[in-house]
Amino acid sequence: MEWRQRFVVLVGAGILGAAGAAAAAGRSLAPIPQDQAVSTHGPFEMGDCGTCHVGAAPHPGKLLKAASDLCFDCHEDFKGVVAKHPKVKGNCTLCHSPHNSKKKKLLL
Ligand code: HEC
Ligand code: HEC
Ligand code: HEC
Repeated sequence: MEWRQRFVVLVGAGILGAAGAAAAAGRSLAPIPQDQAVSTHGPFEMGDCGTCHVGAAPHPGKLLKAASDLCFDCHEDFKGVVAKHPKVKGNCTLCHSPHNSKKKKLLL
């Protein structure tokens, strides 16, 4: 196999591997029991599901708009951060929970 082909195969396997690992971890964005949470998001703590969802607790349903657009409503200063990190493409919930998490700063 030529090195170029080998490189493509390796990179492809890497991407699939990462996606598989995320799926296996079953990373859900649903809220966790509050007694397990180290950090909690302001609007979630206020019980204000309607800030981001169409409905109310406990199953507030769909989002009002794409998650990152929601985030920018209140964290406008992060638009610049995203511009500097095109790979992340403003996908805040890749790393942060919108509700609460077992790590600090709502990190997943
Ligand atoms: C800051 C915005 C925000 C607030 C406030 C918020 N949520 Fe969410 N919620 C999200 C996002 C983003 C997702 C991920 C949805 C997706 O990716 O489809 C989500 C997903 C969920 C899910 C999982 C849905 C599923 O299909 O797995 C549940 C359950 C949920 N939220 C409950 C709540 C409840 C209950 C409240 C209020 C007490 C609340 N949320 C407040 C942003 C928010
Ligand atoms: C309705 C306004 C609102 C929306 C929408 C919102 N946030 Fe927040 N967020 C807050 C407030 C208020 C705080 C707490 C004050 C602060 O740290 O600035 C906060 C804090 C945070 C923190 C820091 C938490 C900590 O423990 O230090 C992160 C991370 C965060 N938000 C991420 C997000 C993400 C990701 C989204 C989109 C899914 C989002 N926010 C949407 C209002 C909002
Ligand atoms: C690649 C992972 C990643 C992505 C994507 C990401 N963040 Fe973060 N974010 C972090 C990490 C790590 C920290 C904690 C940095 C620290 O400890 O000082 C953080 C911290 C924060 C904080 C707290 C800042 C403070 O000073 O306490 C806020 C608010 C926040 N992020 C919002 C967002 C928003 C909004 C988005 C989407 C536009 C976003 N993040 C996307 C990794 C990420």
